[in-house]
Amino acid sequence: MNAMMKLQKVLVIGAGFVGSSLATSLRSEGVQVCCTRRQEGGEGTVQFVLEEEGGEGTVQFVLEEEETWGNLPKEVDGVVWTLPARPLSQVQRLYDAYLHSILDSKKPVIVYGSTSRYQVEEVHQWVDEKTKKIQKEGSREEGEDFLQEKGATVLVLAGIWGESKNGQSRQPKSWFEKGYIKNVDKFLNLAHVDDIVKVTLKVIRRHSETRGQAINVCDGNPMLWRDIIVHGFGLELPPETEDQTAASSRPYISRRVQNNLLQSIMGKDYKFKTIIDPKK
Ligand SMILES: NC(=O)c1ccc[n+]([C@@H]2O[C@H](COP(=O)([O-])OP(=O)(O)OC[C@H]3O[C@@H](n4cnc5c(N)ncnc54)[C@H](OP(=O)(O)O)[C@@H]3O)[C@@H](O)[C@H]2O)c1
Repeated sequence: MNAMMKLQKVLVIGAGFVGSSLATSLRSEGVQVCCTRRQEGGEGTVQFVLEEEGGEGTVQFVLEEEETWGNLPKEVDGVVWTLPARPLSQVQRLYDAYLHSILDSKKPVIVYGSTSRYQVEEVHQWVDEKTKKIQKEGSREEGEDFLQEKGATVLVLAGIWGESKNGQSRQPKSWFEKGYIKNVDKFLNLAHVDDIVKVTLKVIRRHSETRGQAINVCDGNPMLWRDIIVHGFGLELPPETEDQTAASSRPYISRRVQNNLLQSIMGKDYKFKTIIDPKK
């Protein structure tokens, strides 16, 4: 039951920020990896990895262009789906054409979702995997639910940060400095790219235990932007944010994402990377 699965070949659909780092990790462990991107040899985020890896094993795949689906490898031991699983009609068609035989043979299919799926009604509500989801026609969650019912594991990702193997960097401090943060009374839930890669590797190898489940992937340490800016970065809040808060009659509703299920999978001693020390 707990046996680690031996992986020889894995398909990573979408080698973007997380996918390219995942592919690099898998390759360093001797796993053969096939990645996809939308444009053949075009500019883009995976160029770095393609060159580093000698350009091996990357094929063109576009969910909306079925003529590209024949490029996907016939035999794989597992699939990691990193792009948003929408529209549902295309996800279902790809399931019929390709994923169905992989899932039927009980091989792992991991699908990345987003913690924005959770519907919150209370101020700064804690959410876990059982929290009600926002019902929206055409949303990625429709595709995720469909694949989960077929046996895929959905990794529900919080805000992704860190340094990717595709050469890109995502840093909360620079989001603030660039003026992207309009409301400082909102909780930020984060997952470092290195943790997402480690979680994905663990889940794909121990797939029999997580098959058909959704698992939140975050550091379990949501923090208010206000506290991150002041106590974490040692910066001052922009004056307009103070004015906004004073003028606001209602506190902003944001979610705090719990990671108890993930912590139990990774082990109680596993430490997730955080942007600032939670005890600070
Ligand atoms: N950014 C966040 O903070 C955040 C938070 C929660 C969840 N997520 C989700 O987590 C997942 C991984 O994030 P990421 O930052 O690694 O994403 P990313 O860098 O945008 O990479 C997405 C990959 O999917 C491919 N792709 C996108 N649309 C496609 C389509 N229609 N057909 C085929 N391939 C397609 C892209 O191809 P190209 O290489 O050709 O561009 C790219 O390789 C995504 O689903 C994202 O929405 C992100």
